[in-house]
Amino acid sequence: MRVAVAGSSGFIGTALVAGLESAGHDVLRLVRHRPAAPDEAQWDPEQGVVPLARMAGVEAVVHLGGINVGSRRWTRRFKKQLHHSRIRSTTVLASALTGLSTRPRVFVSASAMGFYGPDRGREVLDEESEAGDGFLARLCQDWEHAAAPARAADIAVCHPRFGLVIGPGGGALKPLLPLFRLGLGGHFGNGEQFWSPVSLHDVVRALRFMIEQHGCVGPYNVCCPAPVSNGEFSRVLAHELHRPRLLPVPGIGLQIALGEASSELLGSLRILPTRLTEAGFTFDHEDVREIIRAAL
Ligand SMILES: NC(=O)c1ccc[n+]([C@@H]2O[C@H](COP(=O)([O-])OP(=O)(O)OC[C@H]3O[C@@H](n4cnc5c(N)ncnc54)[C@H](OP(=O)(O)O)[C@@H]3O)[C@@H](O)[C@H]2O)c1
Repeated sequence: MRVAVAGSSGFIGTALVAGLESAGHDVLRLVRHRPAAPDEAQWDPEQGVVPLARMAGVEAVVHLGGINVGSRRWTRRFKKQLHHSRIRSTTVLASALTGLSTRPRVFVSASAMGFYGPDRGREVLDEESEAGDGFLARLCQDWEHAAAPARAADIAVCHPRFGLVIGPGGGALKPLLPLFRLGLGGHFGNGEQFWSPVSLHDVVRALRFMIEQHGCVGPYNVCCPAPVSNGEFSRVLAHELHRPRLLPVPGIGLQIALGEASSELLGSLRILPTRLTEAGFTFDHEDVREIIRAAL
């Protein structure tokens, strides 16, 4: 199958392209820089430019692009940039797809567990749950809504709401590993908040599932079936690294250091991948131990 991927240079995109290619798919990477390889075609979300001629015959399009949420402190200006980079690029791509003479069957447009808000305590969340409040929740709702032009053109639009993606070389584990390797890692705040992790390996498999299985449409929580407390996550990580788990990192310290972004670490989101499971998807890494082992 011919698949176009935007945001292909990132943590998830790099793994996805490798996974698609090893499964025999023909990948076209939509890149914002000048193309440097035959499988790259340039697009410019700001100018509304999409290389439609190069996209002929594409059956599936995946959009993972957007400024990295954890790359800076969340000032008002940066929050605007986070929002704009996702809404603008998704609107441009979704609208452009409607202009292809043969439209793709499926458009997979990224979203995030932030849809459910910063903190839902012990509530069990699935795709039927209400959206939450706060910056990330509003961003995710606008982000999903931005794919409306593709939906209106009868393209099956899927929104993977990614949990905390854990894999080698990046993502959520990257800032934690140096601390834990030094034996300095501990849980955050009281450690009781739920985290909903997923292995990068299963993220790639879930994205392939949405592309390859005809009939996938709508939101899909992409997180393992066993959400875990942050305290348990830290305990397993320290154990797998053969290091002691040290003092907790106080919530107030994280709030001072990271500002509003600390809600991602201190908030509690207990999310189940109900729609993926019901559709017949099974996880290779079902719990935090398997996820961390796979990443290490
Ligand atoms: N990793 C996680 O744990 C996680 C969790 C929840 C949600 N997500 C979401 O899933 C998506 C992929 O995650 P990731 O971890 O792979 O992110 P990432 O490593 O930060 O990569 C995102 C990609 O977006 C593109 N990009 C950067 N700025 C952009 C802009 N202004 N406009 C359009 N595209 C831009 C870049 O690709 P090019 O330079 O090739 O265009 C970049 O490689 C992101 O939208 C992220 O918010 C990730």
